[in-house]
Amino acid sequence: MRKPIIAGNWKMNKTPEEAVELVNELKPLVADAACDVVVCVPAVCFAAVKPLISKRGCKIKLGAQNVHWADKGAYTGELSADMLKAAGVEYVIIGHSERRQYFGETDKTVNKRTVAAINAGLKPIVCVGENKEEREQGYTDTIVSYQTLMALTGLTNEQVEGTVIAYEPVWAIGTGLTATDEQANETIGVIRQAIAGKYGKRTAAKVRIQYGGSMKPSNVKGLMAQPEIDGGLIGGASLKAVDFSQVVNY
Ligand code: 13P
Repeated sequence: MRKPIIAGNWKMNKTPEEAVELVNELKPLVADAACDVVVCVPAVCFAAVKPLISKRGCKIKLGAQNVHWADKGAYTGELSADMLKAAGVEYVIIGHSERRQYFGETDKTVNKRTVAAINAGLKPIVCVGENKEEREQGYTDTIVSYQTLMALTGLTNEQVEGTVIAYEPVWAIGTGLTATDEQANETIGVIRQAIAGKYGKRTAAKVRIQYGGSMKPSNVKGLMAQPEIDGGLIGGASLKAVDFSQVVNY
């Protein structure tokens, strides 16, 4: 059985001081979580958040929002996988649609980042998803399958099994629109089929695939009741401790 994973993507929100406040409020609320709980905070918040969640028994794991593929070098503004590891990061979001849309992220760079993350011992959360036009034109299955297989290129079966995929339909991000339970389940099923086609059914059955896009307390139950959906990547609702804890404790 796949253990569900609920991750908050704080995006470009919260100063270190605000991060401490949010995590301290969140900690008792998710103390009995039955799923993996991750907060992907801005890099400037790592040092403030890590000590708060390091105690044994704390369910919250630290995540980052991007990683570079090189070990080090002249890449102004980027962070290497080793730097993230040294800061106590365990998970890293890769290929979020906002990075694809605004920062020139491509399937090729998503793959390079994913390989670097895995080689350093980080757990990647790789984002895939179609935009509104692609869904309307009937390309959803092709897009998500292609993005997924491109991201995983060069990985062993075991490495694929350790990768989390986040299916985030671009039209549902920050819009209040959510894919229906059935739409999300169906597309995540398509992603799993694509993985099975290349890596085999056994491997595909082990990969955790999240849904992301306006997931919140009011819709989490229905989504998480779907057999293919193994968790959520939460934007807006992860910025309020009570809301995020309600998603975690669905
Ligand atoms: P929202 O939950 O704000 O729609 O954001 C989803 C998302 O992009 C998570 O990565």
